Amino acid sequence: MEVVIVPDAKAGGELIAEAMAQLLRRKPGALLGVATGSTPLPVYEALAAKVCSGAVDVTRARIAQLDEYVGLPADHPESYRSVLRREVLEPLGIGMDQFMGPDGTAEDVQGACEAYDKVLADAGGVDLQLLGIGTDGHIGFNEPCSSLASRTRIKTLTEQTRIDNARFFDGDIDQVPHHVITQGIGTILEARHLVLLATGEGKADAVAATVEGPVAAVCPASALQLHPHATVVVDEAAASKLKLADYFRYTYANKPEWQGI
Ligand code: F6R
Repeated sequence: MEVVIVPDAKAGGELIAEAMAQLLRRKPGALLGVATGSTPLPVYEALAAKVCSGAVDVTRARIAQLDEYVGLPADHPESYRSVLRREVLEPLGIGMDQFMGPDGTAEDVQGACEAYDKVLADAGGVDLQLLGIGTDGHIGFNEPCSSLASRTRIKTLTEQTRIDNARFFDGDIDQVPHHVITQGIGTILEARHLVLLATGEGKADAVAATVEGPVAAVCPASALQLHPHATVVVDEAAASKLKLADYFRYTYANKPEWQGI
């Protein structure tokens, strides 16, 4: 696992957007896995700026969703499909025909989960999966003690996650669904490159457990330690509880530039 400490969220966004751009220059039809929430926004802004300036062409890029609320109509402004359309697809000029995501309104939820794993596999797998992290260490919506081998399935959100996400629902926790469909940890680990971005002091404990703690289901993000190409990008505040912070700074500063992340 590589840990890159950046000065702030904007620098993290720029670094990851450049990794995505390099991937798309190499593989124009790459499948990018994207997360929602506040953390990835600087990545999407930086990538959209690159598209605008002509630094990268995304016309053949494909986008895959990480998770979705169960029961919110697809056109609800806070369904993750709507959020991704607004924050990723429209700014990048990518059409819905190049987008894939689970159906959060399916009557047969388990069937929809299995179908989505198959869609991802049939698409050739995710090339780069961008992840945020919950204050409790969740990735996607794999809450603590999710199986590290899990596939896409329905999960129940913890109360803390519903409190954290109430800000997207006028601050009203009662509007936050209890259930979600999320790519499983086993599904996420199949992506070729995992890039986790964490910013702010509120993520410092979760980052320390992810990077320096044991691989344990109680901290789902620690499963990144099992992946051959995982990059954790953190700002100074999110890195503040890392014991090996100086080592991570040293190794990144001395890395050959051509290697990228
Ligand atoms: C959302 C997702 C979640 C978020 C996490 C952090 O698609 O998968 O794991 O990444 O809850 O959310 P923010 O970035 O809003 O702190």
